[in-house]
Amino acid sequence: MEIIRCEDLTKIYRSGTSGVHAVDGVSLSFEQGSFTAVTGKSGSGKSTLLHLLSGLDRPTGGRVIYQDNNLFDYNDNQLSVLRRRRFGFVFQAYNLVRELTAQENILLPVMLDGRKADEDYLKRLVEMLGIEDRLGHLPGALSGGQQQRVCIAQALANKPALLFADEPTGNLDGKTGREVLTLMRTVSNELGITMILVTHDLGVAEQADRIIRLEDGRVAEDSAEEKVIG
Ligand SMILES: Nc1ncnc2c1ncn2[C@@H]1O[C@H](COP(=O)(O)OP(=O)(O)OP(=O)(O)O)[C@@H](O)[C@H]1O
Ligand SMILES: [Mg+2]
Repeated sequence: MEIIRCEDLTKIYRSGTSGVHAVDGVSLSFEQGSFTAVTGKSGSGKSTLLHLLSGLDRPTGGRVIYQDNNLFDYNDNQLSVLRRRRFGFVFQAYNLVRELTAQENILLPVMLDGRKADEDYLKRLVEMLGIEDRLGHLPGALSGGQQQRVCIAQALANKPALLFADEPTGNLDGKTGREVLTLMRTVSNELGITMILVTHDLGVAEQADRIIRLEDGRVAEDSAEEKVIG
């Protein structure tokens, strides 16, 4: 079953008289519960595609269909509410509030939504991520790997349908990076969350159900299509 798709998605950045086609007519469909890796050289449009798919950014053209609606038919407020409730996002840099404890950071999106946290679920989540004894600490007192696990807990705190991650282990050493990634996969798998991950690391990409390779804003390779274009 499809959970999200994009149709002819395009993002052009204007610079002077010319334009950069960061994403150039991409159409993709993602299966519920699947794990997709998006790869490609620096500048191939990976982050831009992820930002469009997750509604963080608006396209120049095309649509992203989630639950029968085009994300970009929503106004900014409706879109941010949808994103907060249904999507989780993990970035390369840890986006934690430095004055809040790990626990407060994790709960922030749920609280912004004016909802109560599901205590049992959160307890299980932080246990799975192995940060249950770090919850009272400020981010500054946590290692990089721990901070990234707090970010993952935060992204999953609202039980999202979709988890987007852009080089989530890029700032970690190889071993910690692989551990954090395995955790992310295990947790998403167990919770039935669809995962779309941007990575440079081919070893990581090979663990995915599907690998999409971008080149100049286009899909150059898609293991789900079993064909190579170009
Ligand atoms: N805000 C922006 N303004 C102008 N051009 C941009 C902007 N963001 C991205 N671009 C351009 O769009 C293209 C795609 O960028 P994008 O960040 O999506 O690449 P990427 O595949 O994520 O690269 P990396 O692996 O280095 O993170 C690049 O040519 C980039 O310079
Ligand atoms: Mg990028």
